[in-house]
Amino acid sequence: MDKQKIIDSSRNFVKQYLNNQEAGHDWSHIQRVYMLTKTIAKEEHCDLFVAELGALFHDIADTKFNKNSDADAAIITSRFLESQGTPNAVIEQVCYIINHISFRKNITNQSKLTPELAVVMDADRLDAMGAIGIARAFSFGGHRNRPFYNPDIPPRTKLTRASYEQRNGSTINHFYEKLLHLTEKMNTSTGRQLAAGRHQFMQEYLEHFFNEWNGRS
Ligand code: ADP
Ligand code: NI
Repeated sequence: MDKQKIIDSSRNFVKQYLNNQEAGHDWSHIQRVYMLTKTIAKEEHCDLFVAELGALFHDIADTKFNKNSDADAAIITSRFLESQGTPNAVIEQVCYIINHISFRKNITNQSKLTPELAVVMDADRLDAMGAIGIARAFSFGGHRNRPFYNPDIPPRTKLTRASYEQRNGSTINHFYEKLLHLTEKMNTSTGRQLAAGRHQFMQEYLEHFFNEWNGRS
């Protein structure tokens, strides 16, 4: 098996597949998650090949943005990987990552964490934090036509799957409902270290935001 060849053909396949996605879930997100996965995996005990493929395919069918379900995602992924001669044991582990990575599903359903899922999940969460995370949040809010802030709508304190997908709310609330909780959810110590700087940057951003909102500085 030529691992590099499978990685390269997977990159091309996913890039083509995600060509028309909106800005938060596009190929550049996959590339960043892929790079972060490699950075974290180097420091942790896991199968790098499985983690890299998991990163590349993890958003192949995000149900918020297209009609494919998670089941379709596993089918699309395994068909492609089979066509490239990837061993079944690898395909199964990659599909496990795809089926269990979602933040929404993990609110109610604690998945069994494999080392590779732990790494890709951390990489995906890191890309929702820091400067890129801020850009993605406002891009998502704009896509949904949401106000970026409305002081009359307080952040929801208890997140259920239904309330997470509820349509009203503001992008600033999303920081308090999700983004500022990601650091404590990191699975790996490398992920936690990388999250610390991004977390602090988001806190500083919010401090500036509210100062400016209130006409100060
Ligand atoms: P995950 O990949 O963990 O399931 P999502 O698909 O829910 O994450 O989110 C993708 C991106 O959109 C992330 O950067 C996330 O912060 C952002 N996002 C999701 N929901 C909202 C929201 N209600 N307001 C602003 N940004 C959001
Ligand atoms: Ni993602």
